[in-house]
Amino acid sequence: PTISKNVRPPATRIKSRLPTTKSQTVPRSTTSCSDGTEDSCQLCCANVAIYEYDPCRHCPMCGECFAKLTEQQHEECIICCRSATINSRVAAATNHQVILVDQTQEFLDKSLNIIETSLKRIVKKKFDKDQANGEKYLNDIRSRIKTSLDVKDAVKSTDIIIEAIIENLEIKQALFKQIDQIAPKHTIFTSNTSSLPITEIARDVHRQDRFGGLHFFNPVPVMKLLEVIRTSSTSDETYQAMLNFGKELGKTTVSCKDTPGFIVNRLLIPYHAEAVRMIERGDATPEDIDTAMKLGAGYPMGPIELMDYVGLDTSKFISDGWQKRYPDEPTFRTTDLINKLVSEGKFGRKTGAGFYKYSK
Ligand code: 3HC
Repeated sequence: PTISKNVRPPATRIKSRLPTTKSQTVPRSTTSCSDGTEDSCQLCCANVAIYEYDPCRHCPMCGECFAKLTEQQHEECIICCRSATINSRVAAATNHQVILVDQTQEFLDKSLNIIETSLKRIVKKKFDKDQANGEKYLNDIRSRIKTSLDVKDAVKSTDIIIEAIIENLEIKQALFKQIDQIAPKHTIFTSNTSSLPITEIARDVHRQDRFGGLHFFNPVPVMKLLEVIRTSSTSDETYQAMLNFGKELGKTTVSCKDTPGFIVNRLLIPYHAEAVRMIERGDATPEDIDTAMKLGAGYPMGPIELMDYVGLDTSKFISDGWQKRYPDEPTFRTTDLINKLVSEGKFGRKTGAGFYKYSK
């Protein structure tokens, strides 16, 4: 098979890590081949034809092996905090070197356990009758995920940072301010925020042109979508790099301006709130609302079960924040029933109870 374009890091980024003499002196190849595809070598950046029949896929200009390079020379990324656990597993599964950062070893261990469970699910499905390759697949991905308790140290060698810490503007701003001084110049900063303005999260960083939003959806390995957010300061190059990164992760990207909830949550949160208001008014039961939206609108989950799945605390967090910011927008208001359930510790699936009860 030919080297896949969407698992190749941008040549310019790789170039910046290499001795400049090599990348600058290699001439562009004029080779073309009907059996292969044109690509550029990840080491010397020469444009070359990659021949289907060359099993090793050596670059004719610098002699390096493409197959080896695709495995080893992928973008590094760092992902912060537990909620990014599965994002990091997806990144590692697509050949990225990942550093998962959290505040305590306990959180990191928990994250690694979640990743392990998720990967074993894939292995069971894909390698049921091929234990050896299943184990290799697991080990390859495990080897690409490192963990760290020291964010300052972890960011020193990263190309892209995906922040997924608590949805608190001040804490996010403080984190980015801190790492802005340490991360390499070319490093792109992104936030996986569900509801906060990227522009405000980026307020205290100098690299305004290298800042954007990458919003993933639960469950991350399954949901194909990635929302890519650019602020008025995000450069074209950064925006393109974020789109490429999304494709490398196997996601379909959509772009949105830095507006509340971007596309999905701007529609989803008011829709969920309206479903809860129906329950509050006694119009319909949770079960009937869910059945109606699944069978009547073709949604895979009804709004009530999806809220339980995502977490009622998360829903409340988002709508509380919006209500404060946009007090005149009635569709952003938090519902009394959500307030009540959250105050009782009923956050949905993760606590064993929300609108519905779950066996843990
Ligand atoms: N991790 C990995 N794979 C998973 C998974 C998980 N957590 N959950 C399900 N899968 C896989 C299964 O292995 C299965 O794969 P296969 O088809 O290859 O065998 C496939 O997904 C389907 O799973 P199931 O058959 O077990 O169950 P369902 O068909 O009911 O699908 C679902 C489960 C994918 C969760 C589906 O119900 C769904 O799409 N629900 C809607 C999810 C959604 O709307 N997410 C967005 C939430 S909003 C958000 O995240 C934004 C945030 O900011 C709040």
